[in-house]
Amino acid sequence: MRIAVLASGNGSNFEAIVQAVERQEIQGEIVLLFSDKKQAYVLERAQQHDVPALHFSPKDFASKNLYEEELRDILVEKRIDLIVLAGYMRIIGEPLLSAFPNKIINIHPSLLPSFPGLHGIKDAYRYGVKITGITIHYVDDGVDTGPIITQAATEISADDTLETLEEKIHLLEHQWYPKVLAKIAKEGVKKL
Ligand code: GRF
Repeated sequence: MRIAVLASGNGSNFEAIVQAVERQEIQGEIVLLFSDKKQAYVLERAQQHDVPALHFSPKDFASKNLYEEELRDILVEKRIDLIVLAGYMRIIGEPLLSAFPNKIINIHPSLLPSFPGLHGIKDAYRYGVKITGITIHYVDDGVDTGPIITQAATEISADDTLETLEEKIHLLEHQWYPKVLAKIAKEGVKKL
């Protein structure tokens, strides 16, 4: 399985995935790490692990569509089987969706459909839910919608702070994203 990871920030999920590939737990290869942010720490992680990396920004293009068409052309040219969003802070548009139907997956730090959007962990914490978690799902044209592949839950206990909850959530993400990728590498993506 030829994987491309798209990320905008820290890249701890990218790191967990790369390590699982290095341990040969995922029968696949990370062919490309792409970031839309030049300063993203994930680019350094890619370098540390010898993963080919590329970055450019929508600001370098006349429109969001042209940006995504350029990215699509690169991913098609590299014969990518699966696009893995790992903290990629953009909505996926038509160029990528039509070129990679059911071949784009995302991880979100809440139990969808609760708490979609940018602040899943904080929103769940502030709401006061007693159970939250993570969702790994196929990507469609909505925000954190699309068929759910798997979810994992954790309790929010009385002595959790936002920080301890964030740690719990990230731990779950780092356990489950590589597992899901290993399964997809073995069994293939969902059929349309
Ligand atoms: C994760 O919490 C993920 O669920 C969300 O963005 C965050 C990315 O973290 N989509 P990192 O860059 O992988 O450390």
